[in-house]
Amino acid sequence: MDKGWCKLTLALLVLLVSTNAEASFSYHMEDFIRAVKQIEDEDPGSDPATVLMRLRRAAGLNDAFIRHFLPDAQAASEMPTNLSEYFRKAVHHRVLEDFKEEGVVLTPDGTTVTVAPLLLGIEAGILKTKRQAHIHLTLAKDLGVSFRRHSSGTHYLGPDGCWNNVTSPQVFTLSSKPNLFTIAQINGRMDGMILGTEISANSSCLLKLSSLLKQYYSHQLDREGMDSAPRLISQRRRENFKLLVFPPRLMRKTMTTVELQQRLTGQPKMKMETKRKLRAVVKMAIKEFVHMYMDCPPIISRCMWGAEPYRGTPTSLSLPLPFLFIHHTHTPSEPCLTFEKCSADMRAMQRFHQEDRGWDDIGYSFVAGSDGYIYEGRGWDIQGAHTYGQNSKGYGVSFIGDYQTNLPSQHAMSLVRDQLASCAVNRGGLVSSYTLQGHRDVVSTTCPGDAFYKEISTWEHFGKVKTQKP
Ligand SMILES: *[C@@H]1O[C@H](CO)[C@@H](O)[C@H](O)[C@H]1NC(C)=O
Ligand SMILES: *[C@@H]1O[C@H](CO)[C@@H](O)[C@H](O)[C@H]1NC(C)=O
Ligand SMILES: *[C@@H]1O[C@H](CO)[C@@H](O)[C@H](O)[C@H]1NC(C)=O
Repeated sequence: MDKGWCKLTLALLVLLVSTNAEASFSYHMEDFIRAVKQIEDEDPGSDPATVLMRLRRAAGLNDAFIRHFLPDAQAASEMPTNLSEYFRKAVHHRVLEDFKEEGVVLTPDGTTVTVAPLLLGIEAGILKTKRQAHIHLTLAKDLGVSFRRHSSGTHYLGPDGCWNNVTSPQVFTLSSKPNLFTIAQINGRMDGMILGTEISANSSCLLKLSSLLKQYYSHQLDREGMDSAPRLISQRRRENFKLLVFPPRLMRKTMTTVELQQRLTGQPKMKMETKRKLRAVVKMAIKEFVHMYMDCPPIISRCMWGAEPYRGTPTSLSLPLPFLFIHHTHTPSEPCLTFEKCSADMRAMQRFHQEDRGWDDIGYSFVAGSDGYIYEGRGWDIQGAHTYGQNSKGYGVSFIGDYQTNLPSQHAMSLVRDQLASCAVNRGGLVSSYTLQGHRDVVSTTCPGDAFYKEISTWEHFGKVKTQKP
């Protein structure tokens, strides 16, 4: 952690007790942080570990497995009933019959996280109780149970979901039946592990929980976007997590955690056969995890940016495709740096394509923001309207901005060149020997801009040939 965290803490310590409490909080991380701050402000002398214990008490995060690593939360003082209610619902994870997922919050970058593993990871990091407690605690919650519940579907991870409202989120609904872990659970576990590791390596100064969360989740990017952003922010979740774990070790840790959890909760020792089955499931789940989180870039889904439905009947692509076409949007001409702005740009482009152009949907397959995320356009399976005459042969990926004289950020280019492309190859969307071209290689246009076109012509898969002119 850098020095800024310590300074912020000092500043917060001199704040007076806040008296104007909010009437109601949404399940947005900004609101969650305000609620945490209210707890801190009411008791300015309390340290983060105490605050975390109080949150755990409110949320009932205090089973034998957790108590093996952390103090008994019953020792923490109770909170006012209304706050306690809020924290219980924000932290206690469950999926209801109708696929509503609770215990999740929407973060400012447009991703959703479960709060419990996040808090457990941080508390274990602060207390440095037992070796690698933060890993067990972030991995663990009911891991064994979910493995056993898992019926042999084809997927182990997911799904993601949609919020009823992204400015004042209250209800999060999964897009289908939950698998072993929902996307929010994975995000929360990664964040818990990242922050827990960081703090346990480095808790030389006492920080406030609210300022820690604020720095991690609410960092505002400046004009250079991710290229000049600090290391420890939620937009870098996957990058940071990749540095922390390597898959075979994650597999071993997961097995140890399940066994430990079963022992501590008084369940009989696993039979060899059960253990073998469990190991097979863990192995497949981690394989899927590596694909989704290590090959693929983070993608903001249509419901999150507020897409209108596709009009008419979509044409399915016949995969794998031989081409990847690179575009710039030209309008909007400025790179977008926040989830709100990128989402608004997506909606504006969709409106233009549907209303003015009379197309069925936004033309692009995917769009790269400069906020650290890729935005889903028509997606992997549906033919786009981006590169005249070639739409059935390739994906069209556009970068928000005008790149006639400037380049997109290195970070945004790498998301597409290194991650989206290899993700596409690994999931069978592109042939491994795919050809990458600029829009202008096919159609008479300046797109994707002189500067950017020069840049992509140095990329590994760039090739001028092979498309037949329409
Ligand atoms: C710990 O914090 C110091 C400054 O506060 C920073 O220079 C250092 O990189 C941090 N160490 C780790 C392991 O994060
Ligand atoms: C909780 O209750 C207290 C006292 O009744 C009130 O002042 C405060 O505004 C309430 N807070 C929330 C979050 O509803
Ligand atoms: C989301 O909630 C806010 C605050 O309640 C409201 O002003 C806004 O209109 C809502 N947005 C949508 C799309 O419903």
